[in-house]
Amino acid sequence: MKVFVTGGSGYIGSHTVLQLLREGHEVTVLDNLSNSSEESLARIQELTGKEAGFIKGDILDAALLDRICSENRFDCCIHFAGLKAVGESVQKPWEYYNNNITGTLNLLKALSDHNMKNFIFSSSATVYGDPEVIPITEDCPKGVCTNPYGWTKSMIEQILMDMAKADKEWNIVILRYFNPIGADPSGRIGEDPTGIPNNLMPYVTQVAVGKLEKLGVFGDDYDTPDGTGVRDYIHVSDLADGHIKALKKITEKAGLCIYNLGTGNGVSVLELVHSFEKANGIKIPYVIKDRRPGDIAACYADASKAEAELGWKAEHDIVDMCRDSWRWQSSNPEGYRS
Ligand code: NAD
Ligand code: UFG
Repeated sequence: MKVFVTGGSGYIGSHTVLQLLREGHEVTVLDNLSNSSEESLARIQELTGKEAGFIKGDILDAALLDRICSENRFDCCIHFAGLKAVGESVQKPWEYYNNNITGTLNLLKALSDHNMKNFIFSSSATVYGDPEVIPITEDCPKGVCTNPYGWTKSMIEQILMDMAKADKEWNIVILRYFNPIGADPSGRIGEDPTGIPNNLMPYVTQVAVGKLEKLGVFGDDYDTPDGTGVRDYIHVSDLADGHIKALKKITEKAGLCIYNLGTGNGVSVLELVHSFEKANGIKIPYVIKDRRPGDIAACYADASKAEAELGWKAEHDIVDMCRDSWRWQSSNPEGYRS
């Protein structure tokens, strides 16, 4: 298939582009490189021997999107492009709503105008808010988000649902990711956050590589087995694979479908730290800190719908995730900048 990938040089996008090329699809990436480097695409070419087309550009540029869509016949668009830093979204709500929502509206308009109505969207478990029941199924009602970033995902989902309802030609798959970590086992592509990482695994790997002194564990008094927050960590290569399966679903012309992409296993902060230490033989010094505002105690998926309907199931365990995260970080201490 000919696939248009927005945000394709970023963390999840690059792993998906790698998988798409390996599966024989043709890929065009659009990215403004605001949070990524073209180097990821160069490395994908080195790994696959195939080249993804690259357009440096912005989803806020409606004229550019129209031009791209008039010059190409894409079988599907996978839409990763967006701003994703939770804390920053609280400081800069307008920028987040504008970039993520206006950008998505522009993209949907260009695709629709050129009659290319197959769409896969990167959503997040954050749309469930503080879930009433875990494991979380797709039927669990969407909740109150604790930050503008989360609301952009929730609102875009609503936009997609309304569009699919109004126009039956749309085929849309909404993928709600749980917590992606890990990297391609080659160690050549991975997550490359700018500045001090907000998320747990990149923080742990930067402590391991000596860039940061110690990890702060945000709270040990949650109602969880060891008191620290529980999440459903999923290997980014499994997540990428979920998109390949979603592409197949698109060809069934099933209208709008929603899937959780998680492993179904809850892992606490301390369990992740200890798994990392054991997998890589490196001690991670940590200190218990106050809870981080907006965090919930526990969140993990019921991923059985994706297995039943997409034939997708996460294959990698937490040891693989820790090993692959470390391989990437240790061989690229400065990320793509080195
Ligand atoms: P990322 O920042 O690595 O990738 C996003 C890409 O989008 C970047 O390459 C960035 O340069 C690009 N981009 C941002 N705004 C753009 C714009 N206006 N025009 C063109 N390109 C633009 O993030 P990621 O972790 O790969 O996330 C990909 C998608 O998955 C995002 O939509 C994110 O919200 C979603 N998601 C991520 C997580 C996670 O924990 N990483 C969890 C759930 C959902
Ligand atoms: N944590 C720490 N110390 C840190 C960073 C995180 O203890 O330095 C803890 C958090 O308190 C939480 C767990 O590690 O219990 C995971 O935190 P992350 O920041 O890695 O991930 P979140 O679950 O908070 O959020 C992530 C993404 C969101 C996304 C959500 C669900 O950042 O964008 O997963 O997919 F919406």
